[in-house]
Amino acid sequence: MAFYRQVGSVPPKRHTQHRRPDGGLYSEELIGEEGFSSDSALLYHSGIPSALVDARPWELPDQTLTPNAPLVPRHLKLHDLFPGEEHKATDAVTGRRLVLGNADVRISYAVSSLTSPYYRNATGDECVYVERGSATLETSFGALEVGQGDYVIIPRTTTHRWVPTGTEPLRTYAIEANSHIAPPKRYLSRYGQFLEHAPFCERDLRGPTEPLLGEGTDVEVYVKHRGNGPGGLAGTVHVTPEHPFDVVGWDGCLYPYAFNIADYEPITGRVHQPPPVHQVFEGNNFVICNFVPRKVDYHPLAVPVPYYHSNVDSDEIMFYVDGDYEARKGSGIGKGSISVHPGGHSHGPQPGAVERSLGAEYFDETAVMVDTFRPLDLGEAGVASDDGKYAWSWSGRGPSA
Ligand SMILES: [Fe+2]
Repeated sequence: MAFYRQVGSVPPKRHTQHRRPDGGLYSEELIGEEGFSSDSALLYHSGIPSALVDARPWELPDQTLTPNAPLVPRHLKLHDLFPGEEHKATDAVTGRRLVLGNADVRISYAVSSLTSPYYRNATGDECVYVERGSATLETSFGALEVGQGDYVIIPRTTTHRWVPTGTEPLRTYAIEANSHIAPPKRYLSRYGQFLEHAPFCERDLRGPTEPLLGEGTDVEVYVKHRGNGPGGLAGTVHVTPEHPFDVVGWDGCLYPYAFNIADYEPITGRVHQPPPVHQVFEGNNFVICNFVPRKVDYHPLAVPVPYYHSNVDSDEIMFYVDGDYEARKGSGIGKGSISVHPGGHSHGPQPGAVERSLGAEYFDETAVMVDTFRPLDLGEAGVASDDGKYAWSWSGRGPSA
């Protein structure tokens, strides 16, 4: 994230004395990526950011993974995962249920109404897509008001918590990387400015605008980090003597921000455009794309739904958020569904969808897609929400009983 921001009180020159009203010094902290060789921010804490008074294990939600075997495309029904009033006992961090994962990225889902604990992901950046509901994301950089359709990018090690607001449960689709998540390099100038052909730009990104200070002592912060548990993860609860939100000012190019899917300007053509025109973010060994309401292909003989395709290098995970997804009609897929189209399997429109799409001028679909370059395994929530029959939806019949 190369877009420079300055919030709150910072001294005119970096690494110089910055004093509190009582005459003491603020603690300057650099949060930087790739060992001082990439984006960073300088934060000014009233306390000492490394101070701890206690630590204990945090048992993470179930991170076990089950191979997609035998290899088949799958339909996962996320809206079946938190039935009834379960959201009232769930928060957006500890309540995440793991849907899919590999060594590069984990996708999980939560429907929550509780405020999460203070939390920090020390394994990589998070991109949390807000499917429904609204929340205040409180962070050590300041607060972000987020809601339906927002991608919330939270850099590794940012202490934060999710505070649901409004009356609707908060539905969050968390894409946790073991790397950094950023807009594709091809959208950016060599110095990091969004180029004219990019489908969004700096004006569409919302960052913190003022410091957020918390009060309290002996505050618990849940830390997800590298370890010996499933997925190479482990958890620890740190107890800090002062509140972790003690940053009076910061500046730099590394901070949490939000981008709303409705601000993505779709790129369309006379004939079908390939998925890379829909890309919004990327991490190591995966990309995030979105399909938004748009005018569709306008050649007089255009076929608006996709051609069959075998993404030989990718598993393709489509999360259907809104509208009617034309290519999947007749497959049982609807809002809240995920389709898993694994590498090694050719996929495309369900029977009849091509003919039905001819002459269409507009698709009202909204979907978020994650393509991974290494195969994904199923998390416990992926196994639990599998409809068990999607693989046979193109042929109309499955194995005989
Ligand atoms: Fe596809």
